[in-house]
Amino acid sequence: MSNQLELLLEKNRLWSQSVKDHDSDFFRNLAAQQNPKYFWIGCADSRVSANEILGLLPGEVFVHRNVANVVVHTDLNCLSVLQYAVDVLHVQHILVVGHYGCGGVTAALHNVRLGLIDNWLRHVQDVRDKHRARLMAIDDSARRLDRLCELNVLEQVLNLSETTIMRDAWARGQDVTLHGLIYGLGDGILHDLNMPVSSDNELLSRYDAAIDRLFVSAAR
Ligand code: CO
Repeated sequence: MSNQLELLLEKNRLWSQSVKDHDSDFFRNLAAQQNPKYFWIGCADSRVSANEILGLLPGEVFVHRNVANVVVHTDLNCLSVLQYAVDVLHVQHILVVGHYGCGGVTAALHNVRLGLIDNWLRHVQDVRDKHRARLMAIDDSARRLDRLCELNVLEQVLNLSETTIMRDAWARGQDVTLHGLIYGLGDGILHDLNMPVSSDNELLSRYDAAIDRLFVSAAR
């Protein structure tokens, strides 16, 4: 066994002990059931880990991560996690969390060729192309990347809201709200992009308002 793995296992033992020192029944209780209120769909980036950023313990947030936090209607993996979160766990809030400085979004914006992943990032390029006129009107390339990171979140909230899973949940009156958030790597702060969606009928007005808000200030 490598030293690095030994180190990880040792860190795990220390962590487990520190949790038990605080609450001796913590793992016993958690093993019996999970009852998270939140479902996080985020980027696979190692710097954007759901529990730590939210300050939540194991058991409090259900998580799905992929490169550039993309929700695709043919992605059986993401849809399966979503269906379980909504239909079985009855989460109340679904958070689509992007982050500034996302490598996947950067590659998509600049047509960087990285390999197989280019095909996945094509979905982010679709977002870029959908908003091409407004993005290209931004002179500063760093600000253009920031806007695409934000747009990508809002488009994934839109995609999420149009899945059969969300439509069926809302049709039966289930209380579950979607949110678009973006995380700052440089300061550790999450920002709400103000696109809460808790039913079909408010979807497009929320989407339009949130998109417009990104481009309202010329200084952005
Ligand atoms: Co990323």
